[in-house]
Amino acid sequence: MLACRGLTKQYETDRGPVAAVRSVDLDIESGCYAAIVGRSGSGKSSLLGMIGGLSRPTGGRVLIGGTDIWALSEAGAAAFRNARIGFVFQFASLLPNLRALDNVALPARLAGTMSRRAILERALERLADVGLDSHAEAFPFELSSGEQRRVAIARALMNDPALLLGDEPTSDLDEQTEREIMALLRDISRSRGTTLVLVTHNLALAAQAQRIVHIADGVVVP
Ligand SMILES: Nc1ncnc2c1ncn2[C@@H]1O[C@H](COP(=O)(O)OP(=O)(O)O)[C@@H](O)[C@H]1O
Ligand SMILES: [Mg+2]
Repeated sequence: MLACRGLTKQYETDRGPVAAVRSVDLDIESGCYAAIVGRSGSGKSSLLGMIGGLSRPTGGRVLIGGTDIWALSEAGAAAFRNARIGFVFQFASLLPNLRALDNVALPARLAGTMSRRAILERALERLADVGLDSHAEAFPFELSSGEQRRVAIARALMNDPALLLGDEPTSDLDEQTEREIMALLRDISRSRGTTLVLVTHNLALAAQAQRIVHIADGVVVP
């Protein structure tokens, strides 16, 4: 499902080059829940950004369902990302002036392949999947941070992505809410067969994953 080959990211800085990810080879099976763990600065976000099509590698390849995503044109990559990859970010990422339902609907509106009515029906279903269909009309500021994160998850699932990525998607939440959101992500991945790759600093939660990938100093350690 997901394969990284010689994946490399080097940043050019005033102090010289920083090798954040160094020739990573990684295979993650379809439907698997994998947790990426490692110290701060070990390269986790850089790795996930390249896997998610957000940050261009300086070397190597990312294959998702056989597609070499960084070989696509810019427009092709954007369409692929929107259709196949869901991303849940570290902090609140909802558009503040859109209601929950419209935030969730956004990726389908961008894809432009469904009718307005079908989009709203599906957005409501996705909100129900995260237990928030009763809050469809709420604006982000009217929701708790845990609820906002649920809406962000519903939005990430809007286009039925094959791959769901999260970069410490719960690290700013309290412990109880963090546990609930992580359980929700795990259940969703299980019931929908979505491949789930999460970066987390929380080793207890990472232990619930089917696979733990340890990163140290830009490489995967066995
Ligand atoms: N945009 C950037 N420019 C320069 N260096 C960066 C940039 N992003 C990350 N780095 C450096 O790359 C290394 C890995 O960072 P990162 O991928 O954010 O690690 P993690 O997510 O594990 O904390 C660190 O040394 C960090 O300082
Ligand atoms: Mg990070």
